[in-house]
Amino acid sequence: SLVSMRQLLDHAAENQYGVPAFNVNNLEQVRAIMEAADRTNSPVIMQASAGARKYAGAPFLRHLMLAAVEEFPHIPVVMHQDHGTSPKVCQQAIELGFSSVMMDGSLGEDGKTPTDYDYNVSVTRQVVAMAHALGVSVEGEIGCLGSLETGLAGEEDGIGAAGQLNHAQLLTDPEEAYAFVQATQVDALAIAIGTSHGAYKFSRPPTGEILSIERIRQIHERLPNTHLVMHGSSSVPQEWLEIINAHGGEIPATWGVPVEEIVRGIRYGVRKINIDTDLRLAATGAIRRFMAQNPAEFDPRKYLQVSVNAMRDICIARFEAFGAAGQA
Ligand code: G3H
Ligand code: 13P
Ligand code: NA
Ligand code: ZN
Repeated sequence: SLVSMRQLLDHAAENQYGVPAFNVNNLEQVRAIMEAADRTNSPVIMQASAGARKYAGAPFLRHLMLAAVEEFPHIPVVMHQDHGTSPKVCQQAIELGFSSVMMDGSLGEDGKTPTDYDYNVSVTRQVVAMAHALGVSVEGEIGCLGSLETGLAGEEDGIGAAGQLNHAQLLTDPEEAYAFVQATQVDALAIAIGTSHGAYKFSRPPTGEILSIERIRQIHERLPNTHLVMHGSSSVPQEWLEIINAHGGEIPATWGVPVEEIVRGIRYGVRKINIDTDLRLAATGAIRRFMAQNPAEFDPRKYLQVSVNAMRDICIARFEAFGAAGQA
């Protein structure tokens, strides 16, 4: 059934687990997530970005997620708007039936320009007022996602700050986070700890200087009852990079957020973990390998099925690692 994010994350906090929030754009991703949730009895957060709406169109996205609820009525599902760049965007998502929205006021309406604290509070408060009146949850964000190695947000298209970011912007300040939650009453708070969107997060396996789980601990100390959200939390599996590159791909060496570091974050109050890139990598690797091994095949259902299986297995692994398995 369709549930609010608040309801789901309150349960996660009471029972000390984290919920992966997977981005969805098409049938194959929705099916992979739901089959994984069904097999592991896990609660689901499906989120749609502006890019997803552009790709699939809002009605198709909406009905894909509602179809998931219909086919798997025993699984709690949150329909979440990812990275809303204005109150208007969030309002449209609420009108479409989303049970949760992110107002990302850390960036301007272009999704690129870092904003000041007062702007962020003002737009986020507007969305909270509108959403809470309808039982819809709100995620806010304080701090700028980006690499502590380069000071760059990374992602070229989609959501990401343009230009160079400084150390203070890249690590959410616990006092500012505290004030922001008091002022806005958001249900969940996305924080910056050195992760960034996309496949190119770290040039080496991350250590504490470039991925600050310690900062999560400090924020949690100040905000023990706030559900924290980690964005840019794909793990960038090395085995999928190898499969892609063994079958004609050319992805340079790169590292993501290790699953065991996310599990440490969950101990410090992380309840929602955003994952998009890992499913993209698994789908691409599975399709590249299938195409190479089956050159005479031309039924899209055959290669899309292997992509569903590969994405499903990533989802199962994350549900299990984060402790969400068995909690539906
Ligand atoms: O926020 C970033 C997500 O990975 C969504 O990316 O805008 O390309 O759909 P997208
Ligand atoms: P990844 O690019 O690490 O999968 O992050 C996705 C995300 O944060 C969506 O909001
Ligand atoms: Na989000
Ligand atoms: Zn994000």
